[in-house]
Amino acid sequence: MGRRTWFSIPEKNRPLNNRINIVLSRVLRAPPAGAHHLAPDFNSALKLVDVDLADRADQVWVIGGSSLYKDLMESPGTKRLFVTQILNQFDCDTFLPEISAARYRLLPQFPGVPSELQTENGIQYRFEVYESFEQ
Ligand SMILES: NC(=O)c1ccc[n+]([C@@H]2O[C@H](COP(=O)([O-])OP(=O)(O)OC[C@H]3O[C@@H](n4cnc5c(N)ncnc54)[C@H](OP(=O)(O)O)[C@@H]3O)[C@@H](O)[C@H]2O)c1
Repeated sequence: MGRRTWFSIPEKNRPLNNRINIVLSRVLRAPPAGAHHLAPDFNSALKLVDVDLADRADQVWVIGGSSLYKDLMESPGTKRLFVTQILNQFDCDTFLPEISAARYRLLPQFPGVPSELQTENGIQYRFEVYESFEQ
C-alpha cells in the first residue's frame, strides 16, 4: 500500500492483521511504526515478496492508492481486480484508474463473492471481479 493509504487506516487497526504490511514511499527511509516493510517502488515491493518473503507469502494484494492500482493494472502477469461498484454519486478526491476492457474481463461469478446487488444504509453496491487476459 502507498504511504497515504497506510496513514488512512486507523492506528488501532495497523498493521492489517494476518498480512505482511508493505508500505511504499520514495521519501521514508524506514517503515512507518507498525508496518513490516518499506519499499521504494512497485517492483522492489514485488521482489521483496518473491525473494525475501517467498516462504511466508502465498498471495499479493495491492490495496491502493491510485498510482499503485495503476502500476498493478499495467504490470505483466495474470491478475484479478476485486472491485466494489458503489451505485451512488459522491464528491471524491481519489480515483480508481479506468479498467481497460482490452486487458481485463469481468468474470460472471467468483467463489465467495456474492453476485447480487447489495444494500447498506440505503447505499447500493455490487462486487465485481475482473481477470486479466495475460497469462
Ligand atoms: N476505497 C479503497 O479501496 C481505498 C484503497 C486505498 C486507499 N484509499 C484511500 O485513498 C487515499 C490514499 O490514496 P492516494 O492515491 O492518495 O495515496 P497512496 O497511493 O496511498 O499514497 C501515495 C504515496 O505513496 C507512495 N507511493 C505511491 N506509489 C508509489 C510507488 N510506485 N513507489 C514508491 N512510493 C509510492 C508515495 O509516498 P511518498 O510521498 O512518501 O514518497 C506517495 O506520495 C486515502 O484516503 C485512502 O483512504 C481507498
